[in-house]
Amino acid sequence: MKRHLITSAIPYINGIKHLGNLVGSQLPADLYARYLRARGHEVLFLCATDEHGTPAELAAAKAGKPVEEYCAEMHDVQARIAEGFGLSFDHFGRSSSLQNQKLTQHFAGALYDQGLIEEVEQRQIYSETDGRFLPDRYVEGTCPNCGFEDARGDQCDNCTKQLDPEDLINPRSTVSGATDLEMRATKHLFLRQSQMKDKLDEWINSKADWPVLTTSIAKKWLHDGDGLQDRGITRDLDWGVPVKRGDKDWPGMEGKVFYVWFDAPIEYIACAQEWVDAGKGSDWESWWRTDKGADDVRYTQFMGKDNVPFHTLSFPATIMGSNEPWKLVDYIKSFNYLTYDGGQFSTSRGRGVFMDQALEILPADTWRWWLLSHAPETSDAEFTWENFQASVNKDLADVLGNFISRITKFCRSKFGEEVPAAGEYGPAEHALIADLTEKVAQYEKLMEAMEVRKSATELRAIWAAGNEYLQAEAPWSTFKTDPDKAAAQVRLALNLIPLYAVLSGPFIPTAAASMLQSMHVDDAAWPDDVPAALGQLAPGHAFDVPEVLFTKITDEQREEWAEKFAGVRA
Ligand code: MF3
Ligand code: ZN
Repeated sequence: MKRHLITSAIPYINGIKHLGNLVGSQLPADLYARYLRARGHEVLFLCATDEHGTPAELAAAKAGKPVEEYCAEMHDVQARIAEGFGLSFDHFGRSSSLQNQKLTQHFAGALYDQGLIEEVEQRQIYSETDGRFLPDRYVEGTCPNCGFEDARGDQCDNCTKQLDPEDLINPRSTVSGATDLEMRATKHLFLRQSQMKDKLDEWINSKADWPVLTTSIAKKWLHDGDGLQDRGITRDLDWGVPVKRGDKDWPGMEGKVFYVWFDAPIEYIACAQEWVDAGKGSDWESWWRTDKGADDVRYTQFMGKDNVPFHTLSFPATIMGSNEPWKLVDYIKSFNYLTYDGGQFSTSRGRGVFMDQALEILPADTWRWWLLSHAPETSDAEFTWENFQASVNKDLADVLGNFISRITKFCRSKFGEEVPAAGEYGPAEHALIADLTEKVAQYEKLMEAMEVRKSATELRAIWAAGNEYLQAEAPWSTFKTDPDKAAAQVRLALNLIPLYAVLSGPFIPTAAASMLQSMHVDDAAWPDDVPAALGQLAPGHAFDVPEVLFTKITDEQREEWAEKFAGVRA
């Protein structure tokens, strides 16, 4: 048994996330957390809302609410939806928490003491029309790196380069579209990442087992152009963590707050404190302080590729630079993008399916299965309604659902609602047990390695093996000539159900729980020994024929939804 700390990138507070966001971080993180718990490990799985910065301010203004109130409401909305999707966070925190405020100020003080924060007299973009300094994200223009015309002042969504607003060609204000922008003097703090370049480089180089998607992005930032740049970590905003060094005021920084990307990853730590303060845990330091036992913890982060520079460089620079014994991440699992029906998901245009809408039309497990079995790991992946309908109907309804309903109904009709005792296993039964033993071992290997798609493929093969066995052995025919043999076949097939439930739990937790419930199994342990697990329903064990587990998606539904989600969210 090991201790596993798992974090998902924390979603921005403004608005409900779409399925592309979900599959890029929270959902695969949940898959891994559920798997490790099922294997008996101790897991702390944390996520939170990312509440500071300009998007939150803008969204609150649009909703006509004070930003604190807006954030509190949206946090609850996101928490409820996460629950609806079965995301099994041990705590769902808030980056605006007092814990995070204190910890962020603490890190700034520690970095200052280490000489890693520079005060820079700066000229910043001021918009005459808007009457204010424009934070990075309020400026858009052409990316100097790739020529993309809608690059934001903080990062180019096309090539992922981190930018400063004055790098943009033809900058414009996103508040008003104004182009009468001018530079004015102000003071800001910079984290001297460039000083830590060699240390970060060495650290990244030591991670030979990380996904190429992760390390290639990190190396690009370390080595492309002039190499790793210092990062501005303060902003002219009202909403955020006030700039302080520990609990001391910071002369000259009055009225400024830390940049949202400085305080957001620190929330991973603060969230563990919130978890303790909420009475759910007793010791956060043993997860986060290497002087308090966190050396034994394996820490895995999940995120979309646009988040990789912040997690491979900026946040590690904060941690390493503090010169304090904080835990560094051990493994970063990153994802490409999910596209929607030939284009991008678009929050502003309401294009694609958003998490709340998804739950209104179908059960969470349906979405979980499709998203995870199509996770954008090695390349971008595309959601289409045809593909969604086909794989839900085939994998869940025809393969898994049909197997369970067929065998339980057949047993009920011939032997009653209990596991039949007669007959012995023959070569076909032993072959199935051997095949499943091998497949389960392979599935475990893939899940351990966080190979999400491949794990789904293996799980599907495990389900299919049961169907193929039934198809080939046909107990309904056997029964006519050799009822005892049919009883043995049914006994084995029924025993596949709790096995399938436990193995499938990380992907489709609700269906898995109801499978166990209909089989009257309370303590479902992981099948460390597959042949033994396939004997757990002893002769005479009672069960219920379950309700329909998965309903098929009809062509009419598919067409209706394709039209409904094509754009302009109400
Ligand atoms: N809110 C960011 C996003 O949705 C992710 C922040 S992750 C953390 O892209 F590192 F800041 F925590
Ligand atoms: Zn670019």
